Amino acid sequence: MVRYRTAGESHGRALMVIIEGVPAGLNIERKDINEELARRQLGYGRGGRMQIERDEVEIISGVRHRRTLGSPIGLLIRNRDWVNWEQAMSPDDGTAEPVVRPRPGHADLAGHHKYGHRDLRNVLERASARDTAARVAAGAVSMILLRELGVHLIGCVCSVGSVASGGFPSQWFERPASEVYEYWRELERDRPLRCPDAGAEQEMVELIDACRDEGDTLGGVVEVCAMGVPPGLGSYAQWSDRLDGRLARALMSIPGIKSVEVGDGFSAAQSRGSRVHDPIVPGEAGGTRRTSNNAGGLEGGVTNGREVRVRAGMKPIATLRRALPSVDLSTGEATSAHHERSDVCAVPSAGVVAEAVTAVELAGAIIHRFGGDRLDHLRDRVEREGRSP
Ligand SMILES: Cc1cc2nc3c(=O)[nH]c(=O)nc-3n(C[C@H](O)[C@H](O)[C@H](O)COP(=O)(O)O)c2cc1C
Repeated sequence: MVRYRTAGESHGRALMVIIEGVPAGLNIERKDINEELARRQLGYGRGGRMQIERDEVEIISGVRHRRTLGSPIGLLIRNRDWVNWEQAMSPDDGTAEPVVRPRPGHADLAGHHKYGHRDLRNVLERASARDTAARVAAGAVSMILLRELGVHLIGCVCSVGSVASGGFPSQWFERPASEVYEYWRELERDRPLRCPDAGAEQEMVELIDACRDEGDTLGGVVEVCAMGVPPGLGSYAQWSDRLDGRLARALMSIPGIKSVEVGDGFSAAQSRGSRVHDPIVPGEAGGTRRTSNNAGGLEGGVTNGREVRVRAGMKPIATLRRALPSVDLSTGEATSAHHERSDVCAVPSAGVVAEAVTAVELAGAIIHRFGGDRLDHLRDRVEREGRSP
């Protein structure tokens, strides 16, 4: 499996990630990781910090002359803002005004209960979604591996607040995976919210503007599709090996994500079996074929050869300019919640993080099934055995 651990505070010196389980011989270019980091930073509705940050990865270990060695890959992303926080975030001596007014919806009060922190900066620095940059870096490495194996991931925004679109049109998936990938990656560059439906996107932009003016925030829904996924990944034999369960956990662990859907998940619950389940018909060379993909490419916790399609719902950002009621933990008096520079809507960025965590899970599932010490062996096995039903 592919495993990773992250460390680092939002305004600390740097973020770190160590990734294990990536096969030897994979060509890694820093620019490919940086491209994913840049995608995470973009998107309409993000706050001022994005102008300060220009995330760039440094490869510390596990790669030599652009090739993975099979050993742990260590990545570092420096925080450009560190110069302004050296004193406040010093691991040695330092001083800073404590944060004492917890924000409803954020981890502030939870961290106070858990660790006894009275200065909530000790909570928010790690609970902040800044950590998702490290997760995106781990996902970028997994995506490079997946592309080598013919698996391509794309992601989009389906809704912001009450403005909804249908996600990726299903007819896209009749075309080859690499073609759809190239097409959408090119197109999304000009899309402020990475939504395939330009009309709905314009409405979303207007909604974000209105919310910003009112000092309010928004959430939304993102979709990730993985194309070219071999059938047979995951398992129904043990609950912990179900790939749908692994994906749900990975997606739900993204800060702010409160719901996860595989395929038509929520709407399937309101429909009939005859309309939901994907018919099985004869395919080429005695095989089988599915005439629809409402299941999102997963049945029994195992991939069925269709594109894996998952969605995740994000709650509105917890830091509001028009701050919500709170309590000053130093006095016990009623007040309004802490506010510092913040996003109005981070749904497009959450979508990039969702792609990253999905990539890690799929890469792990492929390695588990086909073996992962060497890329050449893995590629051979996926080509030989990975496409048969
Ligand atoms: C990419 C991304 C950016 C975010 N930016 C902010 C932000 O600027 N301000 C904020 O209050 N929350 C932001 N969030 C959401 C918080 O991290 C989240 O609400 C908080 O961790 C509590 O969520 P939880 O209850 O799911 O842990 C962001 C989330 C993501 C995924």
